[in-house]
Amino acid sequence: MVMENSPASGGACFVVVGGGQAGAVAATTLRRLGFDGRLVLIGAERHLPYERPPLSKEVLVSPASAKTTLFSAADYAQQRIECRFGVAVTALDALARTVTLADGECIGFDKLLLATGAQARPYPLLDGLGEGVFAVRTLDDAEALRARLRAGVRLLVVGGGVIGLEVAASARGLGAEVCVIERGTRLMNRAAPLHLSQALLDLHLAHGVQVAFGAELTWAGRDEAGAIVLEAADGRRFEGDLVVYGIGVTLNDGLARQAGLAVDDGILTDAQGMTSVSGIYAAGDVARQRDPRTGRHQRQETWSNAQHQGEHVARAMLDGSSFAPDLPWYWTDQYGHNIQVAGEVEVDRWLTRGDAAGRRTQFGVRDGRIVGAITVDNGREMRPARQLVAAAAPLGDADALLDPTRDLRKLATALAATA
Ligand code: FAD
Ligand code: APR
Repeated sequence: MVMENSPASGGACFVVVGGGQAGAVAATTLRRLGFDGRLVLIGAERHLPYERPPLSKEVLVSPASAKTTLFSAADYAQQRIECRFGVAVTALDALARTVTLADGECIGFDKLLLATGAQARPYPLLDGLGEGVFAVRTLDDAEALRARLRAGVRLLVVGGGVIGLEVAASARGLGAEVCVIERGTRLMNRAAPLHLSQALLDLHLAHGVQVAFGAELTWAGRDEAGAIVLEAADGRRFEGDLVVYGIGVTLNDGLARQAGLAVDDGILTDAQGMTSVSGIYAAGDVARQRDPRTGRHQRQETWSNAQHQGEHVARAMLDGSSFAPDLPWYWTDQYGHNIQVAGEVEVDRWLTRGDAAGRRTQFGVRDGRIVGAITVDNGREMRPARQLVAAAAPLGDADALLDPTRDLRKLATALAATA
């Protein structure tokens, strides 16, 4: 075993495990903020770190123009970031302060960031079918699926969450026949309020997607012609040529657990993004950070959170600064519609500000304060809407807020100041 760059050898070494968005953003931010020591970025995937949102959207529909890569190889080289892509870290020794890679390399660190993200939760019943079954978490997944999607193909989508619905919309755009099979009673139940679930259902039905609710799959096989057959507990039967499933994620927290770090639905971190072991940090989907304002931990699975924590944890690794978690915020694109959701979705009531062109901004109100916001084809209003949510601004003059001719930016600045 080769042991490189032991801390005792002099010169600080920071290691980032996980070549996803949080890891790549953190590594480049460390350099931007002036970290001058050795910096190693290790990623299990063979690709340069990339953004995942296009995987269920542009990569399926218009792969030629889809852009996913975050930074070029030249960027990393120029910033003296040593990249190890296509090789996983297999062991973390928190006491010896080393990581071991699958190829046997052992790297000592002074500070470590775990940005190992998540993977698609496996579905053994479906994986057992072999050929024609896909999850969509990685670029390789999306490209393999893209190669099979075409007009007339019958696609069964298991899970009516963000991934399932985006894949359904993309596949319809390519002319596939789509059936969404959801175990629960509504779409996107994890991250959308009831009325948005309903609007999404209407949208998918209008685009010719079949949606089956309350379907707990109990059997999966093939008919004599080789078509895939799925059966639900209540006897419903679904036939298709391909299956995509999106039933949530499994966190890549194995290294943290093995090293004895505190883990509870995510690697627990404090207000600096530091784990229960000094000098070891976590960021992105895999981290559950304590909010210094409330004392509560929260974990988010969003692009925005990976960006926010990647940047802020890098700073904290250098100067020990604390930061608050990002306001929850995600978007989804389906059938040419852009939907963004920020803040809380469990509220007393939703108020809508809309214009004649169908652009809408909705405010989620609880106890007279704005705690959630949704935009539909109105992303330009999300920034001021987030400002209101972040301040938990009092509703104030609702008539003015809901008048689409009034400038939301000005209203938000005034209202947030009264919070
Ligand atoms: P990941 O992106 O999971 O990256 C972690 C990386 O670490 C992976 O490359 C993994 O291989 C690597 N790794 C894991 N273990 C090891 C190890 N032991 N050694 C080395 N490397 C390791 N969010 C939105 O807000 N809007 C959207 O529209 C949206 N769309 C999405 C569409 C898809 C198809 C997917 C999959 C996600 C989408 N998301 C969206 C979510 C968003 O992309 C994620 O929250 C974000 O990618 C999380 O980044 P991360 O760096 O924390 O983790
Ligand atoms: N059969 C059918 N549906 C199921 C089953 C099952 N066995 N198990 C779960 N589901 C449904 C859930 O009820 C939910 O509607 O699958 C859906 C999963 O939705 P999400 O939790 O949103 O997960 P997914 O769509 O897979 O997205 C995974 O990717 O875009 C990111 O932010 C997103 O981090 C999330 C990840």
